[in-house]
Amino acid sequence: MKVLLIGSGGREHALAWKIAQSPQLTALYAAPGNPGIAEEATIVALDIDDHAAVVDFCRKESIDFVVVGPEAPLVAGLADVLRAADIAVFGPSAAAAQLEGSKGFTKDLCARYGIPTGAYRRFGEADPAKAYVREQGTPIVIKADGLAAGKGVTVAMTLDEALAAVDECFSGAFGSAGAEVVVEAYLDGEEASFFCLSDGKTVLPLASAQDHKRVGDGDTGPNTGGMGAYSPAPVMTAEMVERTMNEIIEPTVSGMAESGHPFTGVFFAGLMITAKGPELIEYNVRFGDPECQVLMMRMKSDLLPLLYAAATGTLDGMEIEWHDEAALTVVMASRGYPGSYEKNTPIGALPGASATTKVFHAGTAIKDGRLVATGGRVLNVTAIGPTVSDAKDAAYACVTGVSWENGFYRRDIGWRAVARERT
Ligand SMILES: Nc1ncnc2c1ncn2[C@@H]1O[C@H](COP(=O)(O)OP(=O)(O)O)[C@@H](O)[C@H]1O
Ligand SMILES: [Mg+2]
Repeated sequence: MKVLLIGSGGREHALAWKIAQSPQLTALYAAPGNPGIAEEATIVALDIDDHAAVVDFCRKESIDFVVVGPEAPLVAGLADVLRAADIAVFGPSAAAAQLEGSKGFTKDLCARYGIPTGAYRRFGEADPAKAYVREQGTPIVIKADGLAAGKGVTVAMTLDEALAAVDECFSGAFGSAGAEVVVEAYLDGEEASFFCLSDGKTVLPLASAQDHKRVGDGDTGPNTGGMGAYSPAPVMTAEMVERTMNEIIEPTVSGMAESGHPFTGVFFAGLMITAKGPELIEYNVRFGDPECQVLMMRMKSDLLPLLYAAATGTLDGMEIEWHDEAALTVVMASRGYPGSYEKNTPIGALPGASATTKVFHAGTAIKDGRLVATGGRVLNVTAIGPTVSDAKDAAYACVTGVSWENGFYRRDIGWRAVARERT
């Protein structure tokens, strides 16, 4: 099978690394790619926003299958254009990608099918939204409806904060993403991420993970794209997984099919495990970054036939095997991130992969023959071990092998699971 992978982050490096191990693969191409992905794939100079150019490339190179990593091309309809050209593609249609592209769309689906989630209302103007906030009281959660790069949500503890968040959305701080606002009830509990593949009818559960959004140790400081993750998430017991499948994922799949927009691709459910059980915070319609990196480390099965089955409606009867071990990834970022940071800082030595560790590239590039950091999140140092504590020790031991002066990282990735393992 000839495969084109779309994306350039650590998530896509992990996908490329795993796909490259498939006996079914005959050639792997990637666009835009990065230097890590280039070790696994042939990088092609393709503008991925130019959907016609992507189709042309696939025809010219006889690509059998396209795997889309990030959400933006999906929301922009790249999967639709490829499907219309009879090219198999992993990732949902633009209509189904609304599960990530519009928080209000997902909340309405939950309401229609009785999927557990916080009570909510949608608003197109500030005044009624503020009146509702006053009526509900705090804590309360204010969300820009559209894609806001992880910055559109305010968990407000005070009324002032909540009202300011409503104003911020409608002032255009998030562009068109904030033209509509969802106000929702605060859910108390422990968060977890849960991943499944869907071919539109059948779902195959993958695994759970937990991430660390805040930039600083002890979950302090501003939010980031994610500073580390581990899998599995101890809070996702077998019972919670079963309830999540029955109460959240299955009704979503049948609801989307019923609406005429069956969902194919990967569900990334953001969950709050409350006293009542799992409740849906949000859906993402692609693998998480850095959650994908730990899932790929733990996956024993060949990934490529699973993705292809999800894309072609043949997931029924497929099985998946996992390593019993836990995996953990530490994100190394440029000093200053998530604020401004210096670009093109040199990265010296990187530790080579071992049987239990692997460094995935995110924001790196080769400039004048040298590896440099070009992004905020730059490297994902990933390890597998018998427990989360073991994986953590192995990942941090591997971090010491990275020589990059402008890099920093959190020192407590996995703390919640490590604390549980101690007791
Ligand atoms: N109803 C809620 N109750 C409590 N916390 C929430 C709620 N909704 C969101 N959050 C918190 O805000 C974070 C971001 O919200 P989310 O809906 O996942 O938006 P996005 O990832 O698109 O920024 C969540 O990971 C969670 O920590
Ligand atoms: Mg989220």
